Amino acid sequence: MPSISRRVQAIKISDTKLMPMIAAKVGGCVSLGQGVPSFATPEHVVDAVCAALRQDPGAGKYTLQPGLPALRQAVAELLAREKGVNADPETEIVITVGAMEALLAAILTLVERGDEVLIPSPYYASHVEQILLAEGVPVPVALRPDDWGLDIAALERAVTPRTKAVLLCNPSNPTGMVYPDADLRALAALCERHGLFVISDETYDSLTFDGPMPLSLASLPELAGRVVLVNSFSKRFALTGWRVGYAYAARPLMDELLKVHDCTAICAPAPSQVAALAALTGPQQVFEQMRTALKARRKLACARLDELAEHFSYIRPTGAFYIMARYTFSAESSRELAQRMIREARVITIPGGAFGSEGQGHLRLSYGANEVEINEAFDRIGSWVLS
Ligand SMILES: Cc1ncc(COP(=O)(O)O)c(C=O)c1O
Repeated sequence: MPSISRRVQAIKISDTKLMPMIAAKVGGCVSLGQGVPSFATPEHVVDAVCAALRQDPGAGKYTLQPGLPALRQAVAELLAREKGVNADPETEIVITVGAMEALLAAILTLVERGDEVLIPSPYYASHVEQILLAEGVPVPVALRPDDWGLDIAALERAVTPRTKAVLLCNPSNPTGMVYPDADLRALAALCERHGLFVISDETYDSLTFDGPMPLSLASLPELAGRVVLVNSFSKRFALTGWRVGYAYAARPLMDELLKVHDCTAICAPAPSQVAALAALTGPQQVFEQMRTALKARRKLACARLDELAEHFSYIRPTGAFYIMARYTFSAESSRELAQRMIREARVITIPGGAFGSEGQGHLRLSYGANEVEINEAFDRIGSWVLS
């Protein structure tokens, strides 16, 4: 039997996806697991897609390879309005199959075998698998454990002649932290000093609850030409199942990235691009309500966790919809504990160790579920830890 490629042998399916699969076998579980905002696709988005499919024979066909021109235009306007990033919609934006495809295309474009990519840890697990798939070397650099902040000095110490890029997720999945402007500027200076590329995963940019949208590294002139900004329609617009996202990069970089997009996806699904366009250009009130609901869910989840203060401690998150909860009642690995919690309490969480060794001893709790589910999950966890 010929062997499968080493690059695929080196990667694994993330625990974020495995835990729901284990739970499906157990049955009757409530989820604080995968990062899915509970909201249904808004009516105006459904209507736009149905109308397009009924009226436009093109709506079920391939779009132009970089994406629908109107959607790229709307994305460019959004980037200019919200982040001060001036992108040419013709040549510098690609609509992708979720942020996931954009990230993979960016990594395959920038990372060669043996290239090192600095990644603050705990990290989003798929970032590391994608670097490994490109035969690069992920170099986790611990976030400060007292506030999950960026440790710029540690990042600087981790730079070697093989360092090619920094991959930053801001707001962070899994910590729920939003990095302050000063740290982002310090990181940009570091990247400029060492001539590094930056992949900026801004999937949760609109979900900040205590302050404005964070600074985009793509808006900083000192990094011009060396940033790939990645974003998603999954979280802000609750369109996880539509699989649509986008990337921005300056023209020379985008020309290369588009080759990867062409040979992996051809284009993002046309109906999903119509959905994304409707979400971006239609009424925004429904999305504002989702954000408000998520903020209320953060309050609820933190309050419920505070009731279990003898068993969990955590740093209050400022964005996304995750809490990294450190458990103090067990010496088990986070994977063992999360699996036992599924079997015994019938609550899904994600083992913190899945996000790097800095996440060990934690469970990642998502508050994307509705308030009834959040309450039910904490009721179950509460009786379980006391039993
Ligand atoms: C940090 C981060 N980046 C990217 C993604 C993938 O997003 P998409 O659904 O757009 O592929 C996720 C999904 O959870 C995420 O948390």
